[in-house]
Amino acid sequence: MKYAAVTERLAGLGGAKWEVHAKAKAMIAAGEDVLLLTIGEPDVPPPSALIDTAKAAMNEGRFGYSNGRGEPALLAALSARYTERRGRPITTQQFMAFPGTQTSLFAVLTGLVGPGDEVLVGDPMYATYEGVIMAPGAKVVPVPLRPEHGFRMQAADVEARITPRSRVLMLNTPHNPTGAVLTAEDILALGRVAKAHDLWILSDEVYEELIFADGKFASPLDVADLADRTVAVASISKSHAAPGFRSGWAVGPEEFVAALLPVAETMLFGNQPFIADMTAQAVAKPSEVARGMAERFARRARLIKDALHGKNSIHVHEPAAGMFSVVDIRATGLSGEVFARRLLDEEKVAVMPGESFGPALNGWLRLSLTRSDDELAEACRRLSAFAARQLKGA
Ligand SMILES: Cc1ncc(COP(=O)(O)O)c(C=O)c1O
Repeated sequence: MKYAAVTERLAGLGGAKWEVHAKAKAMIAAGEDVLLLTIGEPDVPPPSALIDTAKAAMNEGRFGYSNGRGEPALLAALSARYTERRGRPITTQQFMAFPGTQTSLFAVLTGLVGPGDEVLVGDPMYATYEGVIMAPGAKVVPVPLRPEHGFRMQAADVEARITPRSRVLMLNTPHNPTGAVLTAEDILALGRVAKAHDLWILSDEVYEELIFADGKFASPLDVADLADRTVAVASISKSHAAPGFRSGWAVGPEEFVAALLPVAETMLFGNQPFIADMTAQAVAKPSEVARGMAERFARRARLIKDALHGKNSIHVHEPAAGMFSVVDIRATGLSGEVFARRLLDEEKVAVMPGESFGPALNGWLRLSLTRSDDELAEACRRLSAFAARQLKGA
C-alpha cells in the first residue's frame, strides 16, 4: 500500500536524534545506574491548586464538547494577561486554544505555509521544528545561531538567507537548546527584516516564565508595528510544570485566527473544558512554580559551568533561561554523537548530542538542568574524566 508524501517527508526525523536517550532508558529498565541528563521535564508536579480546579471542573460536569476556538473564560484570561503586558488590547478574538505549543506550531504553520514556501529558523533548533515545517510541504532554511553572539539570532544572518520563497521567520525565545533570550533590540532588528520582506513571525515562547534572574523577556508581540505579522505560541507545560495536561494557545491577528478556525475545528473540534478551567486559573498571575524552577535551573547551570568550563578544554555556554546547558567538547576531537555514545557506555551518563539540534551544534552536548545538584555534580565529574582521557589519547 502507498502512503501520502508527508509520511516520507517526516520519516527520517525522530529516531536517530534520540538514540542515546533510548539506549539510556533501556539500560535503566535493565537495572543499570545511569545518570539521565537527556530530556528536560519539570522537576516538580503542577501546583495542587490547579489539579484541584481540574478535578472540581470534572465533578461539575465540565467534560462536554467545547467550541473550536477555546472556552470563553480561558480566552478572557489570556486576553487579560497579554493586554496587561502590552498596554494595548489583545482581544479574545486573537487567541485560539490548542493542546500544547506543539499542536499550536503544527496548526499555525499549516495555516501559513505550503509546498515550496521557506521558513527561516535558528540552527540549532528544538527537535520537532523540522517536522512542523516540513509537514505542510515547506522548506527548512537554517539560520546559524553563533556562540559568539550568545546564540541570539542576528538580523544580518536572516537577511543573507532571504529568497523570493521566504514566508515565515520562526523565533524561539527563550531558546531550546541554548537558553538564549532575545533582547528587545534583537526583536526590533529581526522585525525590520520581516517587514522589509513581508514575512510572518512565528514566535515560540513556551519558556517565557523560565528566564533566570536579571533576564528580561522580549516578544515581537510587544511591538505594535509587528502585530499584523506576528503569531506567538505558548503553553502551561513549562510554566506550570504541566506538560501532560497538553494545554497551550496561539495568539495572532484576528483575521489570521479566524482563518485558522476551520483548521482547528478539523483537527480537534475543541479542547477539554476542565483543562481550560485550570489553564485560565494558571495564566491569571505569574507562576510561582516557574520562579522556583528558574532559580534551581540557574543554580545548576552555574554548577555545570564551575565544574567544567575551562577544564580539559571544555567550554560551557551559560544559559539565560530554560532547562538546559550546552557544552562545547570539540577540543576532544570527538563529535557530539560519538562523545555522548561513549560517555553512556563508559561512564553511565546520558546527554544529548548537539547534532540532534542541528549542524550548528556539531561537537556540542546538551545537559538537562532538571536533575538534582548532586546528580549533576557527579555527572560533571564523570564527563570531565572522560574528556581528560580523550585529550590524553587514552
Ligand atoms: C522550544 C519548545 N517548543 C515547544 C515545546 C512543546 O511544548 P508543549 O508541551 O507546550 O507542546 C517544547 C518542549 O520541550 C520546546 O522545548
